[in-house]
Amino acid sequence: MFSGRILAIESSCDETSVAILEGRRVLANVVSSQAELHRAWGGVVPEAAARAHVESILPTLDTALRRVGARTLTEAHIAGIAVTNRPGLVGALSVGVTAAKALAFAFDLPLVGVHHIEGHLLSPFLSEQTPSDPHACLVVSGGHTELVKVCGTLDVGFRYEVLGQTIDDAAGEAFDKAARLLGLGYPGGAAIQDAARRGTPRALFPKGLSGDTLDFSFSGFKTAVSRYVQDNDLSLNVSDVAASVQHTIVSVLTERAMRGTLRHDLTCLTLAGGVAANEQLRSKLAEACSQEGLTLICAPLEFCTDNAAMIGLAGAVRLGRGERASWGLDCLPTAPLP
Ligand code: KG4
Ligand code: ZN
Repeated sequence: MFSGRILAIESSCDETSVAILEGRRVLANVVSSQAELHRAWGGVVPEAAARAHVESILPTLDTALRRVGARTLTEAHIAGIAVTNRPGLVGALSVGVTAAKALAFAFDLPLVGVHHIEGHLLSPFLSEQTPSDPHACLVVSGGHTELVKVCGTLDVGFRYEVLGQTIDDAAGEAFDKAARLLGLGYPGGAAIQDAARRGTPRALFPKGLSGDTLDFSFSGFKTAVSRYVQDNDLSLNVSDVAASVQHTIVSVLTERAMRGTLRHDLTCLTLAGGVAANEQLRSKLAEACSQEGLTLICAPLEFCTDNAAMIGLAGAVRLGRGERASWGLDCLPTAPLP
């Protein structure tokens, strides 16, 4: 792994984040969220997101530097720069990538582009524990739902094999859509979790694909929630429906993750991505793993939703192996795992 201090930038969606790391140690992780801005539209508006990143990128960098008692990259002893360059909203990514390039150019520092999902996959390494080699990672976010076999270590680098993935919507999207239908606002996952605490899961929603698969499908679930909302008087039972929504998504994720981990003879499962912040998902997976004798390592809460610390860790692994981006580093809306 790269031995010097790394400055990391994340701007792929609706959080502007800047982190400073030394190896696995996170010295600063500042996240400026645009949730308030996008709430009025019930989702992320790409053009508005890009403009908000332009406004907040340098203030966020400034705050991160101050957290380590510095005013400049030189004072903070930064030796390398990592930036999310794919996948994501291109306008949003461009802001972070352009800032990272300018800083690397001006301070003569090595630069590396990081795949956003690789950042999520490695975020469990930011906990106190070290996932075993190989292990399975369930990465569940607003745009991704994948079960991935992760082979390697922070020192030698990683290889990824997708064991299962969604064939339509992501789990976070399902949470967000259900929250919108229930009038619980944006972002939806945390709102559903709050409402579900006061409810009992009574309604039954479909769990998508049946049979022995490791893939996921949430489109039928979304349609069923939409139909339920049309056909029922929600003024009485929003919390109960929220509890059903959470129960359904959590059961599917738990069942598939356990099936995939056991089928591939892996003894360790990690959990990452925005939806990994869900308390019921964390506790159900902990219960299932303890029953099967598997080790479960969850990304710490602050590193579940989008953050630059996880990008810095993935960047440290790549810079450590000698990887360098050219000044032509591009931003991509979609990209396979490296
Ligand atoms: O990883 P992330 O911050 O951004 C993407 O890369 O997409 O994930 C955002 C997703 C959103 O769909 C949000 O509703 C969901 O994570 N989320 C949650 C919770 N907190 C955030 N879902 C369920 N329960 C939560 N507590
Ligand atoms: Zn993410």
